[in-house]
Amino acid sequence: MKEIKIESTLYVFENLEELPSEVFSLMKKAIEIRDKAYAPYSNFNVGAAMLLDNGVVITGNNQENASYPSGLCAERTAIYYAGSQYPNAKIIQMAISAGSKNKETIKPIPPCGACRQAIVEYEIKQNAPIEIYFMGKVGNVIKSDSLANLLPLGFDKSVL
Ligand code: THU
Repeated sequence: MKEIKIESTLYVFENLEELPSEVFSLMKKAIEIRDKAYAPYSNFNVGAAMLLDNGVVITGNNQENASYPSGLCAERTAIYYAGSQYPNAKIIQMAISAGSKNKETIKPIPPCGACRQAIVEYEIKQNAPIEIYFMGKVGNVIKSDSLANLLPLGFDKSVL
């Protein structure tokens, strides 16, 4: 038996103001769309904003449903829209902001496992990493240089 060590490097920004200016405005768009989420069941709003290499910014938020599993996360709402409308564009960056309507969410909220799987599909499709920035409602922002950093031992088309 041998041990395998898996390591990822992440970067922590103290707050929004510490972000590079183009990321700051992308995160502002994520926050804006977060507040328009349809989340009457969880009261947990999530917003995602993505910058494409053609300059277009795509935003999305979580859409819930009385039949709970029929709802969709913000990240997938946004990325599937980008994939459908701009199939040849590359996604450069994704900014995510999330938080409860009932309390302050200070902790950075990373994309869920299903969203990580969805996002990594596009990294593989475009053969280029997507920078991911995520935060709560306020506070620290975490950056990962790629989604793959957040999804060790990912499942992809190479095994099919
Ligand atoms: N949610 C997202 O939009 N993105 C995630 O990565 C995690 C969870 C949404 C789904 C649901 O509407 C609410 O947050 C609570 O789970």
